[in-house]
Amino acid sequence: MTKPETPHLGQDSRASTAPGLFLCFEGGDGSGKSTQVRLLRDALTRHGRDVLVTRQPGGTPLGAQIRDVLLHGDHVSARAEALLFAADKAHHVDELIRPALAVGTVVITDRYTDSSIAYQGAGRDLGADDIRALQHWAVGGLFPDLTFVLDVPAEVGRERRGEVHDRLESEADGFHDAVRQGFLDLAAQAPDRYVVLDGRLPPEEVHAAALARAEELLGRRR
Ligand code: TYD
Repeated sequence: MTKPETPHLGQDSRASTAPGLFLCFEGGDGSGKSTQVRLLRDALTRHGRDVLVTRQPGGTPLGAQIRDVLLHGDHVSARAEALLFAADKAHHVDELIRPALAVGTVVITDRYTDSSIAYQGAGRDLGADDIRALQHWAVGGLFPDLTFVLDVPAEVGRERRGEVHDRLESEADGFHDAVRQGFLDLAAQAPDRYVVLDGRLPPEEVHAAALARAEELLGRRR
């Protein structure tokens, strides 16, 4: 048997998400993703779109349990952490995301495979290629049509998060710097499928840029 080539998220032939549209927000902790997800969902809904918002980890009952173990449980070894994040996504894609896309829904996810490549691959130093291959298998080759990366320096994210930190957020700034660079590297590899937005700009400004790109993509699908 010949060994399959390591899949590259930026270049692989993803499964088509038609008739739906698959959008993703990525970025470090405290980058303002949740606000942007909400603003985009509200705008697209006002424009008459059927929108499903979900988040990783979580989004399904099993995902909620995995999320609890990962973010609020005791120590989890780095490889186990990577596998648990992958398990959450596999279940999530099968149960929620694929069915929604199949009936024409716009799916907006707060984090996806790139979070694992950045956090487990770069942050935990498990290697981007291995994590990419693991995630590729877990999601059955389904990748977003467009990913928005909200970029903020590690110290800005830390300030915004305040005093409350989950297991990953409590990592040192060096970890979060590696994560940030991980996202920027992924975006640079496939500029047609990523939009990097400055997360320090006023939320309405970031939203206007994201909405314009989403509408452009939806317009092309008509
Ligand atoms: P969450 O509370 O959802 O953070 P945020 O609001 O910043 O998105 O916590 C998710 C945490 O899990 C976050 O620190 C990033 C991390 N994570 C990974 O390490 N790998 C992954 O594959 C995913 C999806 C998230």
